[in-house]
Amino acid sequence: MANKILVTGGTGYIGSHTVVELQESGFDVIIVDNLSNSKIEVLDNIEKITGTKPAFENFDLADKDKTDDFFKRNGGIDAIIHFAASKAVGESVEKPILYYRNNLVSMMNILECQIKYDVANIVFSSSCTVYGQPDVLPVTEQTPRKDAESPYGNTKRVNEDILNDTVAANPKLNAIALRYFNPVGAHPSALIGELPLGIPNNLVPFITQTAAGLRDELKVFGDNYNTPDGSAIRDYINVVDLAKAHVVAINRLLSGKNKTNYEVFNLGTGFGYSVLEMILGFEKATGVKLNYKIVDRRAGDIEKIWADTTYANEELGWKAEKGLEETLLTSWNWEKYVRGI
Ligand code: UFG
Repeated sequence: MANKILVTGGTGYIGSHTVVELQESGFDVIIVDNLSNSKIEVLDNIEKITGTKPAFENFDLADKDKTDDFFKRNGGIDAIIHFAASKAVGESVEKPILYYRNNLVSMMNILECQIKYDVANIVFSSSCTVYGQPDVLPVTEQTPRKDAESPYGNTKRVNEDILNDTVAANPKLNAIALRYFNPVGAHPSALIGELPLGIPNNLVPFITQTAAGLRDELKVFGDNYNTPDGSAIRDYINVVDLAKAHVVAINRLLSGKNKTNYEVFNLGTGFGYSVLEMILGFEKATGVKLNYKIVDRRAGDIEKIWADTTYANEELGWKAEKGLEETLLTSWNWEKYVRGI
């Protein structure tokens, strides 16, 4: 019988791509999502890609009674991938309690249910935001974490600690925290992708919406950083590559290949690109010219970060494969699908 995986936040951006990869690897998937930042139609498009519509329940994992009831009714879950979280950095500064409640309480509810209902394995969606601006690049898993720049970033850091402490106290539990660098791109089918609500905060959705004519111009936040062209550098990882790493992490836990019951991996490409290189890459990949202008730095932004991927490559046997232009083309194809262009 196929292993059953609970994917929280499975209709979201990274979640939906991971559901596709899990189903294509033969797993049964059940999604829990409150649709606060995603659309139910994603389920139909997952079915178009994989031939299977995943099981789905709509509720908020910060609700303890509903979460307990879910686990009571759904026996036989072998592992959990916990994506469900609020993720807008700026909003988290305005509404810290909302972020702490959504992101921390849901984590604790899930862990309590894992103990109560004997669900041994969990993969947690963490972020390179826990490193802040590192003193040394590239960033390894041993690079010290720094104080978070936002309540959102702090929820990632605190959730890592909650996970680590909980598995230490409960040796039957196993956890892997995956620290994502900057996920970009969309499924090659263009049927699923990132669907930001309102004005996008992140670079690539802003690029594609500008190219599609929804935004007049892209603002480049700063050209006076200490980088070759002055714009900030990030490690942009293709979302399908990222999704595949979750399947590897799940297989690692299910086969007991994990070395300790709390492991951490960086998921990036190992290469950093500047904002201006991203613009150029998009124009080259798509042939569409972008209207952009340089403006002041954005508060809270770091200058540069990219991953040392050695540990993930060697220990997980996983490597990001897709190149930048190929990836940006998938983002554009997705934007065109969404806008009916
Ligand atoms: N940028 C622009 N113009 C835009 C949007 C972004 O120039 O319109 C720049 C940013 O200043 C930054 C780079 O593009 O230099 C990437 O910005 P994103 O917002 O796409 O990504 P961030 O690296 O800021 O954010 C990511 C994750 C967050 C996480 C954060 C921690 O998306 O979840 O890293 O730094 F909290």
